[in-house]
Amino acid sequence: MKFFADTAEIDEIKELAETGLLDGVTTNPSLIAKSGRDIKEVTAEICKITDGPVSAETVATDAEGMIAEGRELAKIADNITIKVPLTWDGIKACKVLSGEGRMVNVTLCFSPNQAILAAKAGATFISPFIGRLDDINLDGMDLIADIRTIYDNYGFETQILAASIRSVNHIADAARIGADVITAPPAVIKKMVDHPLTDKGLSAFLADWKKTGQSIL
Ligand code: E4P
Repeated sequence: MKFFADTAEIDEIKELAETGLLDGVTTNPSLIAKSGRDIKEVTAEICKITDGPVSAETVATDAEGMIAEGRELAKIADNITIKVPLTWDGIKACKVLSGEGRMVNVTLCFSPNQAILAAKAGATFISPFIGRLDDINLDGMDLIADIRTIYDNYGFETQILAASIRSVNHIADAARIGADVITAPPAVIKKMVDHPLTDKGLSAFLADWKKTGQSIL
């Protein structure tokens, strides 16, 4: 399972990259706005931190505009993945951009049928949004499972990028189903290490070790 950081905050991305566990980054217009940075500048900085795919999202609503913006964003670095929304125009843009050999991430996916269209249009990644489905009392994980089944049925190579991840349970559940990638805020990825029994066990080991008076180094 690949880990992408869902953020445009440079410090957070650097911290995760230093662990060697970071495989890529996803951004969106809201995350760029939150960073307060210029999209091209901050995206170029991110691309220097990781050589994995870095998703940069188009904002045009027509296919022609998305294609033009996608080509412009792709000039930033070789590892740019052009992110387009799952609209009819987004699908058309995906087909053209992927046909040019560019990586495309089709985002805002909320149904299996949408995921089929993205795969047929040659998407590198499909981004089903788990948390936002949970928010409206649906089960985002059902969507991941449906897409996994459908893609496996037909041998589609589009990678399932589980997005809108809000908790560590989302990550384990997506892994059980076989999502190829998860994108999550770095704080959620860091929480994966937490377990009270690990903390309790370590305290006991250290207390017993102290009693021996030994040192390893
Ligand atoms: C994915 O690419 C999106 O940027 C992101 O996961 C959306 O998450 P949210 O629903 O928490 O905003």
